[in-house]
Amino acid sequence: MQPETLMQPETHDSDAAANAGNHSIAALEKMGEVWKERAQVKNEEFEVEMMYSTEYDDFLDRLIPFNQHPRYGELDDEMRTKILSSGWIAYNEKTIDIESKIISPICNEIIYGTLPGTQDETIKWLAAQTLTDEAYHVLMVIQTARMARTQRGLLDLRLPSFDLVNQIELEAAKYSENWQKKIVRTVACICSEVFISDYLSLLSDADDVQPINKITTDAHRKDELAHSGIFRHLTKEIVRHLTPRELAFFAQMLPRPMRWFASQELNVWETILQQLDYEHTKEVIGDTRAEAEVALFRVDFSELIELAEETGLLDTPEGRESFEAEGLLGNATMTERERPSVAVNMK
Ligand SMILES: [Fe+2]
Ligand SMILES: [Fe+2]
Repeated sequence: MQPETLMQPETHDSDAAANAGNHSIAALEKMGEVWKERAQVKNEEFEVEMMYSTEYDDFLDRLIPFNQHPRYGELDDEMRTKILSSGWIAYNEKTIDIESKIISPICNEIIYGTLPGTQDETIKWLAAQTLTDEAYHVLMVIQTARMARTQRGLLDLRLPSFDLVNQIELEAAKYSENWQKKIVRTVACICSEVFISDYLSLLSDADDVQPINKITTDAHRKDELAHSGIFRHLTKEIVRHLTPRELAFFAQMLPRPMRWFASQELNVWETILQQLDYEHTKEVIGDTRAEAEVALFRVDFSELIELAEETGLLDTPEGRESFEAEGLLGNATMTERERPSVAVNMK
């Protein structure tokens, strides 16, 4: 059997790298200490059933990818409500996939020390806390989606697999070596975690959306703010321990997941609209698809660029070339006005 390079972390032995490492471990240690105060799982249980009210929409029109289509304005109340509730259900099921298929496997790799730079006990401690947070997020979204399904007559709604997950699997399958597949999955996890998702704050700040959906989304957002800092430092630790060959591959892969996260998930939407017996499904999905299957212009990836700069990955030829090829460098200075009008859920 081929020995796995990723199983045998090597260190760059420059003083600068060692100092950067100490700084990250110290920062992580501090984040670990505040977990018991900031973790949402430590709070009182939400009374989802008591708080749910069918008077409110479950989701926001602006988060539906075809909300600008002329047919959207023609929807009757019943269909519009069902589309919004299905959007909430899809958002929650995608969140479950992100937590369970993208983030948790990497937390487990860290706990087992099978990623470079993750032998440190503080790092494992933080990964276990993160894993606990994500498990709680899955519970929260399952509870609120279950309410929406029950209350809106959507118990039979079935969604196909998400483009995001399909893309990660397709990319991982392109490479023959295990360490490469592991890097593909690691960068997908990092991209998801370093973002402070606009999607979460759009929902939690909305006035006219289901109160329990707002509250649980806000709880999720608070944990994710902490995860963002944790994964920035974790990434620095991992990158510091990569071999030159792994580093080049990591730099090349890092910007790729942005496109996968920016998918508008139109296959999922097509299946939803068909199940709702919406008569203009073909037209609406067809037109939206023709406009943009992937809404990269709606994602603010400045944090990922910052991370690539801080880790020196953007200074490598592979990193620069790949960020340019993915079209991420030209938009790095997105202004407030240009920020996403429709966000994409990153976690
Ligand atoms: Fe989460
Ligand atoms: Fe997270």
